[in-house]
Amino acid sequence: MPPVRPENGTPKGAPQTDHWQLTTGNWQLLPALLLNFLRRMSRLTHLECTRCGQHFPADRPQTVCPKDAGILYVRYDLAAIKKSFSPVSLLPLAPTMWRYDAVLPDARPVSLGEGFTPMLRSREYPNVFIKDEGLNPTGSFKARGLSAAVTMARHFNLKKLAIPSAGNAAGALAAYAAAAGLEAHIFMPKDVPAANRIECDYYGARVTLVDGLISDCAQKVAALKKEASWKKDGWFDVSTTKEPYRVEGKKTMGYEVAEQLGWRLPQGIIYPTGGGVGLLGMWKAFDEMEQLGWIGSERPHMIAAQAVGCAPIVKAWDDGKSTSEMWPNASTLAAGLRVPKPYGDYLILDILKKSGGAALAVSDAEILDAVRRWAQVEGIFAAPEGAASLAAYRKLRASNFFSADDTVVLFNTGSGLKYLDVLATTHASQAPAAKAQIEPSPVQFPKSATSHIGGIIGPY
Ligand SMILES: Cc1ncc(COP(=O)(O)O)c(C=O)c1O
Ligand SMILES: [Zn+2]
Repeated sequence: MPPVRPENGTPKGAPQTDHWQLTTGNWQLLPALLLNFLRRMSRLTHLECTRCGQHFPADRPQTVCPKDAGILYVRYDLAAIKKSFSPVSLLPLAPTMWRYDAVLPDARPVSLGEGFTPMLRSREYPNVFIKDEGLNPTGSFKARGLSAAVTMARHFNLKKLAIPSAGNAAGALAAYAAAAGLEAHIFMPKDVPAANRIECDYYGARVTLVDGLISDCAQKVAALKKEASWKKDGWFDVSTTKEPYRVEGKKTMGYEVAEQLGWRLPQGIIYPTGGGVGLLGMWKAFDEMEQLGWIGSERPHMIAAQAVGCAPIVKAWDDGKSTSEMWPNASTLAAGLRVPKPYGDYLILDILKKSGGAALAVSDAEILDAVRRWAQVEGIFAAPEGAASLAAYRKLRASNFFSADDTVVLFNTGSGLKYLDVLATTHASQAPAAKAQIEPSPVQFPKSATSHIGGIIGPY
């Protein structure tokens, strides 16, 4: 049975870290606790370029490979970790992503309780599970990556963290930077969802609203990097996949999928794909778990769900290419999916291929229909990006890619509560009823300017 999220709380006498909490008073767990003391030694060995394989030291801030701009992955001595890190050793640990700290960087976590989100069995499809990432701090799965990235930024004594963002990553960076006492410098399109602007303001971030798309925001960060103060004042760019630790945070979703399904992987995982950090992270987690001896060589079919108005991975997949091309005039109400050329496209496409997966695009109307369906049938108010998973699942069932017997995990990557302005101004009748019989909303909302909300994340 999938677990539900227990209460947090640090019992007296528990080790003094943010995440290392005994969640039960049951001292029969003492052996597991002892195992944990043994495993709490740093096993991070180096960073490795995903293109050329070159190794880099992990004792300083790193960005991308200086030779070929490849994404750097964090590597650990898994053979050593294996001796003391086991599923049993996880039992007494708090339900946050930092329970997997043996395979995370060894630094004092900046944590707001992110991760270990519920794995809910669907009420509509008995073999489907919904991983509800909308319950993370700041209302999206971006919390995981930014918790890890800010943890390392504080560890390296960086001061000013810059991010170009479509919204949710900005909110997450702002929150974690506030918790760490660091400066967050946000560059967002001026028409991002209101929640993202307001939360960044309350978290005390320095927000620059840019008259343009997120690629323009990225250029602002790139310009900042050229200034002399960049190095001197401890600036750092935490853009998607431009630093190695956001993937590490996101990979905990892979560990959780396995743990919450009883250390068995599902037949399929559907992931709403913008920059694809979660796909990269989960695939990395599966490889690590195999090396740890926790799972075998089986892998889920990894599915990238994109929006019809911005589907560079789908196009590359359909064309049999190993990298994507810049998607022109990207436009979808699912702002997080407006990524015209993901920096990690070569890794995403490789994962889809190796897993026997697929990439498919769903329309905004299908996304809205899925938001309502999940809300009305599952009681889950999803972000449009998250609901794209359901829209994609429906298509994959219709085409018999998945059968009713296949266990499939759909990622709801965020909360609909962060999109009230987008969703309130979008009438349900814009969505076809599809298979679901959904009552149209009795309220007539004005036609929205949703296509202007958010922005695109350019290749920067
Ligand atoms: C709610 C939500 N879902 C999905 C995505 C896409 O995530 P990724 O860039 O990891 O593919 C985003 C990105 O902003 C998002 O905010
Ligand atoms: Zn390289």
